[in-house]
Amino acid sequence: MIDIKKLTKQADDKRILRGIDLSIKKGETVGILGPNGAGKSTLLKVIATLIKPSGGQVTIGGYDLKKDQAEIKKLFGYLPHSSLLYDHYSPLENLVFFGNLYGVKNARARAIELVKEVGLSFFLNEPVKNFSRGMVQRIAIARAIVHEPELLLLDEPHTGLDQGAITILNTVILRMKEKGVTTLMVTHDFQQAAEICDRIIIVKNGKIADDFVLVDKKVSTLNKKYLYQVEGVS
Ligand SMILES: Nc1ncnc2c1ncn2[C@@H]1O[C@H](COP(=O)(O)OP(=O)(O)OP(=O)(O)O)[C@@H](O)[C@H]1O
Ligand SMILES: [Mg+2]
Repeated sequence: MIDIKKLTKQADDKRILRGIDLSIKKGETVGILGPNGAGKSTLLKVIATLIKPSGGQVTIGGYDLKKDQAEIKKLFGYLPHSSLLYDHYSPLENLVFFGNLYGVKNARARAIELVKEVGLSFFLNEPVKNFSRGMVQRIAIARAIVHEPELLLLDEPHTGLDQGAITILNTVILRMKEKGVTTLMVTHDFQQAAEICDRIIIVKNGKIADDFVLVDKKVSTLNKKYLYQVEGVS
């Protein structure tokens, strides 16, 4: 699904990504962990065609990132730190708008179904500006999946969510996985990473420091591996 070779990103004289090689198969759920400033969000933004790499090769779903950006944009749903929602619009209006943008058939029915799925049907017609952070995040999740993407790019998706919303989000990710959707999730939440990811990648100083399968699915094992790679604690 994703094939990255020798990817670099430089901004001013700072080397943000310093040679990333990464191959991700269709249907994998991959957690991207690493300290603040490691380059995780930058890597996600490159894949989401929002910033141009300085060097290397990236193909997504068989398309070349340099040439086929329009095709790639249709493939993924992206959940960044900011919600991308229109504040003065309601969840229904936002989701119908984004649904139409992606050419979703019956966008209104899809919007209503998604708002129900994230547990906010009661607020279907309230402007998003009146929402709490967690409520906004719930609608932002719905926005990212409105067009049923093949690839999900999630940047710290659990931040600000209550326990109910965490369960909803994890259910969404797992259900999409059953349909063959590939997920890349940047997170600082080891508990969620251990629970839902098949594979963990640790990014440090713009490079991949580790890439492994968390066989026992235990957060304590993940903590140990992370501390060893990032802090040198064994
Ligand atoms: N446009 C830019 N110009 C210059 N430096 C940038 C730019 N964007 C990001 N950086 C720098 O690149 C580094 C990596 O940033 P990035 O946002 O990818 O980190 P991150 O791993 O997502 O961190 P966090 O866990 O804090 O979200 C940081 O040092 C940041 O200051
Ligand atoms: Mg980040």
